[in-house]
Amino acid sequence: MKKISIFALITSIFFSAYSVANEVNVFNARHYKADGELYSKFTNMTGIKVNLINGKSGALEKRIISEGADSSADLYITADAGRCGAMDAKGTLQGGLTSAAIKAAVPKSFRTSKWVGIAKRARIIYYSPERVTGAELSGMTYEGLADPKWKGRLVIRKSSNIYNKSLVASLIKNNGKVATAAWAEGVVSNMARTPTGNDRAQIMAVAAGEADIAVANTYYLALMLSGKKGAEQQEAAKKVKAFFPNQNDRGTHMNVSCAALVKGAPNKANAIKLVEFLLTPQSQEHFTNNTFEFPMIDGVSPSPLVVNNLGLDFKQDMKTKLASYGKNQAAAVEVMTAAGWK
Ligand SMILES: [Fe+2]
Repeated sequence: MKKISIFALITSIFFSAYSVANEVNVFNARHYKADGELYSKFTNMTGIKVNLINGKSGALEKRIISEGADSSADLYITADAGRCGAMDAKGTLQGGLTSAAIKAAVPKSFRTSKWVGIAKRARIIYYSPERVTGAELSGMTYEGLADPKWKGRLVIRKSSNIYNKSLVASLIKNNGKVATAAWAEGVVSNMARTPTGNDRAQIMAVAAGEADIAVANTYYLALMLSGKKGAEQQEAAKKVKAFFPNQNDRGTHMNVSCAALVKGAPNKANAIKLVEFLLTPQSQEHFTNNTFEFPMIDGVSPSPLVVNNLGLDFKQDMKTKLASYGKNQAAAVEVMTAAGWK
């Protein structure tokens, strides 16, 4: 009897030690309940427990920075390559996301050794088909948002928004800071109102006739059309059309939800395994169906709401490295602020 209980004790100590080691700590700024199911699948497959620490990106970033080398974080998962890039610039990340599986899944411009894209989105133009003609939009580019013909007709959110910082950073990468500073002034003078609200609020403004064109991310139109945000937003979404800029040159500005490997990660190998899992077809399908993002990998279709209302047939900018969004972030903020972009 005694022998058995000692054996049980030793076994339980062994297994509890084992289970402590076999885990991965994910600092998660994606706020989708459904992502939890995905992490459970990973645990069932691998035996690796996923500890999810959910929070807003700013709070999680502060915690990772303040904990420094002692941080329990293995992975930081957030929306926007500009956020992952900025964390890299602060020295909080480490290399290691370089496995053959990751390299095969993610195109070069959408990853670094420290962070990789796990789902894609495009930042595009929405327009009122009643008030904007096909001729006006023909050949339209992000650069064209500064054209005086849009005076008083454009809505876009604040310059403090990460999606705008990354868009403007990409313009600096492609056109230089001086040209982008002049562009930002043109954009500000075309605004129908002082920037306010989130991306969906910009689409709502076009639907309500407050503006003719808006800049917003692709997945928001599908989200509004899904009815998950209520009947009013669903109706508004039906009143606008999507336009993909820069089809005749570098392609439409792309961004990602990204997974970043934190410096000092206590479970680095497990973190890499989890990133590889997030890039499998089953995980990618989960993302596209729950968040309406585009898949990161080939061979997975976006949600039917995206396919039917936004289309798939557009040229993505595959040349501009997403790492430039973090690198040019300070310059982007500078040009927007100088232009009086609230
Ligand atoms: Fe978003």
